[in-house]
Amino acid sequence: MQDNNNAPLYERLIQHIERRPLSFHVPGHKFGEVFSEKGYDIFQGILSIDATEVPGLDDLHAAAEIIKESQDLAARFFGSEETYFLVNGSTAGNMASILAACRPGDTVLVQRNCHKSVLHGLELAGVDPVFFTPEFEDHTSRYSFLHKNVIIEALELHPRASAVILTYPDYFGRAYPIKEVIDAVHQYDVPVIVDEAHGVHFSLGDPFPPSSVHAGADLVVQSAHKMAPALTMSSYLHISGERVNRARLSYYLQMLQSSSPSYPLMASLDLARLFLSTFEEKDKESLLSYLGKMREVIAGAEAPYRVLPVDLFDDPLKITLEAQKGYTGFDIAAKLESVGIYVELADTKQVLLIAGLSHSIELGRLKKRLSEVNWQLKSPDDHGTMKRELLSIPKVQSLALSYQDMQQETPEFVNWSQAAGRICAEAVIPYPPGIPFILKGERLTEQQIHYVQSLHEQGASFQNTDIKQGTWVF
Ligand SMILES: Cc1ncc(COP(=O)(O)O)c(C=O)c1O
Repeated sequence: MQDNNNAPLYERLIQHIERRPLSFHVPGHKFGEVFSEKGYDIFQGILSIDATEVPGLDDLHAAAEIIKESQDLAARFFGSEETYFLVNGSTAGNMASILAACRPGDTVLVQRNCHKSVLHGLELAGVDPVFFTPEFEDHTSRYSFLHKNVIIEALELHPRASAVILTYPDYFGRAYPIKEVIDAVHQYDVPVIVDEAHGVHFSLGDPFPPSSVHAGADLVVQSAHKMAPALTMSSYLHISGERVNRARLSYYLQMLQSSSPSYPLMASLDLARLFLSTFEEKDKESLLSYLGKMREVIAGAEAPYRVLPVDLFDDPLKITLEAQKGYTGFDIAAKLESVGIYVELADTKQVLLIAGLSHSIELGRLKKRLSEVNWQLKSPDDHGTMKRELLSIPKVQSLALSYQDMQQETPEFVNWSQAAGRICAEAVIPYPPGIPFILKGERLTEQQIHYVQSLHEQGASFQNTDIKQGTWVF
């Protein structure tokens, strides 16, 4: 039996290449022997473990040997009954979870501030979502705190819902009493799916918020690549209990993921679990002390922002700056970028910085860069258009048109001035974070349109067809 100090899949890949195998199989780069010279030096290490399903290396879609061993170690560390490695991010995990737990026409209760992959999963599954909104918190200026009563109210109205889908924590690392919420849902014997894309490190324990796997969720999706050291696109899907059918889950995972899963991604999942499982109390203490100093350096810069304090429900790896003195979050982010400090995201009010699980940024260097920022705005007009309005979101909301009905309709593109009162045929998604303001199937209001236009004017990026002109509607 392997223990937590091993990375069986990674080690097996190394053994494989040490045998200097003669590759008469895909991929075409033949462990890096054939590759564009230009990228060879950088890619070489990764290409050497970019294998395929040959004997000894198992098969993600029918894991029985070395991949299963690595997945089992992950399950043991994270505390689930079973863990799947995902090579198409939490995106695939969210979609497969919804398809596995729900049938067309089912009512599903969904936390409103969810990622677009959840909405895409709902649409693919052809379910009827009922959205519930967490409470607005003045000190964070976000709808982020979910109280169990909100869920209980929704379940009283829809006791036959086939699933409750939560997002925990939010993009800014804000958590809530997850166990209370999950226990309340389980009183109705309804499965809980948690998009914990930003919480893979919660298994490290206090002072990180509790992991929803430990809190008893049925399915939990975590992006290893977001908060742990893993390659982009590598995620975990944890399943526990009998409420969701496992055969359906693995069927949809095969459908939504590549039939040639990347071994470097899977090996990085194996190594990310090893990293987390060997992260000791002393590492945590040293990290937290470093993060405290990092906050002091950031707060100490004479800059038009305030560093939001970390409270009980906050992930200490996330640092939120609140713009002040007439600046927007976009202004602050642009100023930081001008001295080579790149942030995770910005909005009208805030800027999110994500620190990793290591002392990767030298604090002296950070202080120097911050001191080099010229905080003057080019002209008063730079922030003259700034609007800090708040978008009001209904507490509980269904779509104005079901996904099935939308399939039958042909959308048209209209100018924003003609969009109010029409049903949105594309979600309006600022990116990052990829969390829609307006849902596909929702009836558009003047306030929403005004809000989106104002955000666009202030520099927010959207993934929509032509956000400047208008949108697609039914
Ligand atoms: C809350 C949330 N869920 C899911 C995802 C999708 O994750 P991935 O990039 O691993 O596919 C994201 C990505 O930003 C996210 O923020």
